[in-house]
Amino acid sequence: MEFNTATGSAAQAHSDCTIVGIHEPRELTAAAAEIDKHSGGRLLAWLKRGDFTAKSGETRLLDALPGDSSTRILVVGLGPRKKYDAKAYRRAFAAAIRALSQTGARNCMSWLAHPSVTGLDSYYTGRFTAETTLHTLYRVPDLKTGKKQPLPSLKRISLGVEKKDRKEVDRGLADGAGIAEGVRTARDLGNLPANVCTPRYLAQVARGLAGKHKALTVQVHDEKAIAKFKMGSFLSVTRGSQEPPRLIVLQYKGAGKAAPIALVGKGITFDTGGISIKPSAAMDEMKFDMCGAASVIGAFAAVAALKLPVNLVGIVLACENMPSGTATKPGDIVTSLSGQTIEVLNTDAEGRLVLADGLTYARRFNPDTVIDIATLTGACVIALGNQYAGLMSDNAKLTAELKSAGERAADGAWPMPMGEEYTEQLKSNFADMANIGGREAGAITAACFLGKFTAGLRWAHLDIAGVAWLSGDKKGATGRPVPLLLDFLLNRANA
Ligand code: BES
Ligand code: MN
Ligand code: ZN
Repeated sequence: MEFNTATGSAAQAHSDCTIVGIHEPRELTAAAAEIDKHSGGRLLAWLKRGDFTAKSGETRLLDALPGDSSTRILVVGLGPRKKYDAKAYRRAFAAAIRALSQTGARNCMSWLAHPSVTGLDSYYTGRFTAETTLHTLYRVPDLKTGKKQPLPSLKRISLGVEKKDRKEVDRGLADGAGIAEGVRTARDLGNLPANVCTPRYLAQVARGLAGKHKALTVQVHDEKAIAKFKMGSFLSVTRGSQEPPRLIVLQYKGAGKAAPIALVGKGITFDTGGISIKPSAAMDEMKFDMCGAASVIGAFAAVAALKLPVNLVGIVLACENMPSGTATKPGDIVTSLSGQTIEVLNTDAEGRLVLADGLTYARRFNPDTVIDIATLTGACVIALGNQYAGLMSDNAKLTAELKSAGERAADGAWPMPMGEEYTEQLKSNFADMANIGGREAGAITAACFLGKFTAGLRWAHLDIAGVAWLSGDKKGATGRPVPLLLDFLLNRANA
């Protein structure tokens, strides 16, 4: 998809479709008023017939009106003018793209962000436009055998803007397209079934990325290497599986010798719970248990596409969690890479076991900051639902940075407390710690468990169990929190 900006008059721009907004009730935007004027009042007359309420996201495709130089007009409801904020813009623009993708239009000219959207600066206008477009046009990598729907013909989107905003909108469009590439990568990986998206498949995708970008390198370690490193906690999770595990290490160098930011991703390609087996209802969704890893690989795809001047290390712990005669049993004690011993009281609390060794492994790179991303606990879904990811850290400044990155990127994460009182729930009679802390505050005790491996590191944990995918009719990966991570990294790059 090609994105660009244009200035001037809505009625005079040539395109396959002019997109104009109407506010509730029957209130023309400047661009709509222009089309109306050039057509001798036809748009307003049509509106007055009462066929269009201008509710946020409502769309209607009209033939070109006299005086307008485009072939079609797409009228989009924006809701009340007072409530036309970033969220309403995204909703309206997504609806426009959805409607356009049903037509043969190859290009379009949108005036939905003209002259401006409340609370949305020029840069984010561009960014959200590109992100929303590519998010809306995304198609799941399905394995349906019937005839595929033809691809939408839309190839170019022009945004009508004010002259003074043009440069910033262009910059936002470029960043948004790069972020969208990362989101798409993460969604594809998440959506693929576990018999396709195996640890080896994740490694192959990471290698493919490295082949495309000079600043990116990848090392893949097999089970033997993982054992040699003494990652006993990671190994205890893969023991029950026939599918070989992989430790995938990505490195992106865009900032000389600066200490890197490390992203550590939970890559459980399928989580049955192991011997502490899960109930069977909706267990298929545990193919999404590698969405942390997918967001790490997605973030690398975006950073490389945008050629950001940052140094980044990615550590992906990829394996299955299966029950079998060789699987880890409740009560087994394992020795982590850090040397600390762990009593595995519940084999379904496996994410923290792989992350513990991933976080310790990150120390090799003397990172400036370490962020782990994981579909870690059902408790986090209960606490925050599908809106916010859980954000846990013992570093207040890093917490604030990530929280505001999420707010700006419309990919929120909400801080939850940590602390000694919670860590106490992890006490074990037989090892340095247990891997579960009881029913209460499950998302927090999981973070506290990770905290046992991050002493001295500038570290934060993102529990994305509630936000990484949607269930029901809309079942599928969301690509979150790639936008948050990229906002954080872009901020670094611009600092
Ligand atoms: N992958 C799950 C967490 C999960 C569950 C994410 C449901 C999204 C939806 C994780 O490995 C897990 O099973 N966690 C357990 C931890 C418990 C045993 C302490 C959980 O949340 O039930
Ligand atoms: Mn589990
Ligand atoms: Zn899991």
